[in-house]
Amino acid sequence: MNTPSCNRTAIVTGASSGIGFAITEALVAMGFNVVGNGRTDYRLAAAATLLGNTPRFVHVAGDIADPAVANALFKKAIAEFGSVDILVNCAGAFIAKPMGDYTEEDLNLLINTVLKGFFYPAQLAATHMSENRAGHIINITASIAMQPNVRVPSVIPALVKGGINAATRALALELAAHNVKVNAVAPGVIDTPLHEPGAVEHYRALAPSGAVGTTKDVVDAVLYLLGSSFVTGIIVPVDGGSTAGVW
Ligand SMILES: NC(=O)c1ccc[n+]([C@@H]2O[C@H](COP(=O)([O-])OP(=O)(O)OC[C@H]3O[C@@H](n4cnc5c(N)ncnc54)[C@H](OP(=O)(O)O)[C@@H]3O)[C@@H](O)[C@H]2O)c1
Repeated sequence: MNTPSCNRTAIVTGASSGIGFAITEALVAMGFNVVGNGRTDYRLAAAATLLGNTPRFVHVAGDIADPAVANALFKKAIAEFGSVDILVNCAGAFIAKPMGDYTEEDLNLLINTVLKGFFYPAQLAATHMSENRAGHIINITASIAMQPNVRVPSVIPALVKGGINAATRALALELAAHNVKVNAVAPGVIDTPLHEPGAVEHYRALAPSGAVGTTKDVVDAVLYLLGSSFVTGIIVPVDGGSTAGVW
């Protein structure tokens, strides 16, 4: 799996920025083909430029909450590269507010992006990879779903990312006999454009290690999972100790 020019294909949602872009960059460098998704075509085109306009990276723009977009991603992957070996569900958003301040719009945005954004591509991957008797599904969730923090009130992110953590284990069991691995990586605070300028400094003071993570920290966990043939149904925290307990 970790050999250069491996000619395997990954679909990565949220590939135009932050963690999803870093995963895409690492996979392309290792010889994987990647079909990337995000809502905004020009951000995906900018990602393609950063990747040197390699033919190993193609993209499909669209809201991943729309099942037609998941279908288009699989169709493109199979037409261009012949198969889908890896799905990384990374598209996401973060809205931290006290419970009373959340709006229906906040709720719908996170349900759509995170829950539907997992469900439709994972459903296609489950069928396709089961038929191939091989594959990896990796969900990027969040450590806050396992260790809430009163100083970062975020009930809706916990609700949806906690749902994906539960679905990761359930789907891992369902697909285990088909040789399809399903795992999650649960980042703590990672320095990406997800956060408003200045917010990362605030979060640094809340971390047990006094540090926030980098996209490389998350990529390393993803590559570990992709290189593992006997690991499925786990949620790997990459959070500088935030889920270890109270600090
Ligand atoms: N950074 C952190 O501290 C942190 C911590 C815990 C968990 N995470 C999780 O890590 C994942 C990546 O976060 P990040 O920090 O890399 O964020 P980011 O830099 O803001 O990137 C988010 C990506 O998702 C895409 N996206 C957002 N909504 C989408 C939708 N409905 N359909 C398709 N694409 C969509 C964005 O592109 P468009 O805007 O063009 O659609 C972008 O490519 C998310 O699931 C997030 O919840 C991040």
